[in-house]
Amino acid sequence: MQQPATNPNVAAMIEMLRGFPAQCEAAVAIGRDFDPGRHEITNIVMTGLGGSAIGADLLRAYVASSATVPVQVNRDYELPAFVNERTLVLAISYSGNTEETLAAWQDARARGAQIVTFTTGGTLARESAAAGVSCCRVPGGLQPRAALGFSFFPLLLTLEKLGVVPPQATAIEDALRIIRQATAHYASEENLARDLAQRLEHRVPLIYGSWNAVGVVAYRWKSQINENAKGIAFWNTFPELNHNETVGWSGRAELCRDLGVVLLRTPSDPPRIRRRMDLTRSQIEAQAPVNEVTAEGAAFLAQLFSLVVLGDWMSLYLALYREQDPVAVYAIDAIKKALAEG
Ligand code: PA5
Repeated sequence: MQQPATNPNVAAMIEMLRGFPAQCEAAVAIGRDFDPGRHEITNIVMTGLGGSAIGADLLRAYVASSATVPVQVNRDYELPAFVNERTLVLAISYSGNTEETLAAWQDARARGAQIVTFTTGGTLARESAAAGVSCCRVPGGLQPRAALGFSFFPLLLTLEKLGVVPPQATAIEDALRIIRQATAHYASEENLARDLAQRLEHRVPLIYGSWNAVGVVAYRWKSQINENAKGIAFWNTFPELNHNETVGWSGRAELCRDLGVVLLRTPSDPPRIRRRMDLTRSQIEAQAPVNEVTAEGAAFLAQLFSLVVLGDWMSLYLALYREQDPVAVYAIDAIKKALAEG
């Protein structure tokens, strides 16, 4: 396994992951202090890409059962047609310079939408200040994907302040406790994250989330494997996968043999979902190894973050087993640079 001493970026990613509990605490404090202004709205659209959009995805799924207005995520240059002056657009870009997010921000302005921005700086911060738009500034210096605390908690607390979701204090405290516990555990010598990484070293990971926002966590695992471990990975979620992907496992066995499945479960999974997962496991385990992990924590938010932290550390250990630099994302940078040059 690659060691921190041989690549400073390994040590840097370990530091980012070790710092995640402190980041989340800081993010909660920033969210509590931030004044998003007063907004009379009928819907919310969060717009961002990649590491800046995953917090929005998690938030959309987490608040789906409690939000008083529809909440959507946009990843395109243009916003959906329904966006108007009664829409609150939350534009999120860690760098503040992402082309698609800046285009969506301009689109929001052109339509007279109400806007709040979340960034470390860049063009988004500059243009927000010039336009008199509330901008929640978060600290820089991290990889956007390692800044999930900053792209989640201030947004959640913004929705709470607007009265769109019920008070979150208890759920947040529980989540922070689990994030601290899980981080300490997965940073240790022997742990499930390392173990899973070893089992996936020579396989194409296929991550299945149990339901609801756990599907977003499965997508987070896939993206972290892509960016940290430099590997192709796939994800899906129940119950939907039982209506298509399930059939894919009944075809030619040699096409499945390099896959490594991870089932993400939570104590909150409804009984029908648990049954679906058991049935699916029995259908696929002859074709590829199936690993299972179960979230910890009492509140659903804590359970989601316990799986996020596990996936983040697993992807780091996978990078080490595969001897990959867990920080650099040259492929993303190259495309951004080429597009910026015209
Ligand atoms: O992980 C990454 O570096 C990317 O997915 C970025 O988050 C993405 O390209 C968008 O950049 P930003 O988060 O700065 O808006």
